[in-house]
Amino acid sequence: MSYLCLENVVKTFNKTEVVKKMNLEIEKGELVSFLGPSGCGKTTTLNMIAGFLEVDGGKIVVDGKPVHLLPPNKREMGMVFQNYALFPHMTVFDNVAYGLKLRKVSKAEINQRVLEALEMVRLSGYEKRYPKELSGGQQQRVSLARALVIKPKVLLLDEPLSNLDAKLRQEMREEIVGIQKKVGITTIFVTHDQEEALAISDRVAVMYEGRIEQVDTPAAIYNHPQTDFVSRFIGEVNHIQAEVMESNDDQPCKVSFDGYQQVLSHHVPKGVLSEFYLRPEKIQINLENNQGLKVLVERKMFLGSKTRYIFLNNNQYLFADISNTVFNPDQIKEGQEVLAVWNPEDLLPVKK
Ligand SMILES: Nc1ncnc2c1ncn2[C@@H]1O[C@H](COP(=O)(O)OP(=O)(O)OP(=O)(O)O)[C@@H](O)[C@H]1O
Ligand SMILES: [Mg+2]
Repeated sequence: MSYLCLENVVKTFNKTEVVKKMNLEIEKGELVSFLGPSGCGKTTTLNMIAGFLEVDGGKIVVDGKPVHLLPPNKREMGMVFQNYALFPHMTVFDNVAYGLKLRKVSKAEINQRVLEALEMVRLSGYEKRYPKELSGGQQQRVSLARALVIKPKVLLLDEPLSNLDAKLRQEMREEIVGIQKKVGITTIFVTHDQEEALAISDRVAVMYEGRIEQVDTPAAIYNHPQTDFVSRFIGEVNHIQAEVMESNDDQPCKVSFDGYQQVLSHHVPKGVLSEFYLRPEKIQINLENNQGLKVLVERKMFLGSKTRYIFLNNNQYLFADISNTVFNPDQIKEGQEVLAVWNPEDLLPVKK
């Protein structure tokens, strides 16, 4: 059995199910993120795990013990919120010490553990400051220290970096993962930022309308999306259609994108058209021979390390992101006709 298990967990608000029979297993020490659009039920799920909301059905099991009927302070969970939720009238030391005082830990031990926790988040020497005397990043680190000092079984973070600017966000996410790995604590990290989720997680649970659509490693989520929602939500995709020329079980499957013929390793049903997604970075330009999809270069945009090309084929736009070290963008001009090519393995089937 996994360390943290959600079994058919349900939450209903005003007769609407906002979390629908959710199942999830998380291993000890794993960092799993909940990724999904606003309103899909991320915070609600986290609050049920923490005990701030009751479940309306199902079970939550931690380390072999059901916890869903226990009050929050008996669940041994540490929580970090988007808005830090520090006590403004208490010093940094007292904020971090709070949970230990509630648990009647001795003064000497409180002192030692608070100083250790502050050292871990690189805030030694800030004990006497008040929250308003700290930057946003520092306040979030106090809040992380406060969550970790009680040595929780599970760490729950609800969009902890949303209030920070882009650069600090990146630094803080590295720091959080560093601490998480060092402590080895089982963690759920809620975010609606896909890059953040892909960058930090052991596994990502992509949520949509109260359900987990797919839970997998970041690479599997990106390269092998299992549902239509995951294909479109993670990264960007072009939507393209091919005519299936040949599709017999004992022969390779041949398709044609407006004359650009490709052989697929898997079979798609023979019909008039078959639909695929194709990521912009999987497209290349062919100037060597006559293989490829004929497209008009509508626009090219220099983006530093890469160039984004907007191609047009039969009134359909196609976006391509091509590294400038692989292809020098000066070789082609807007208004020119070129051939776009890709590997058939990079075509993601559209799941209906
Ligand atoms: N206390 C409540 N009463 C009624 N409806 C609620 C309550 N809390 C949340 N909801 C609804 O439940 C759904 C899920 O909300 P939740 O806060 O879990 O979303 P979220 O995924 O965390 O979104 P966000 O990314 O915006 O934080 C939403 O439709 C929301 O309006
Ligand atoms: Mg939320």
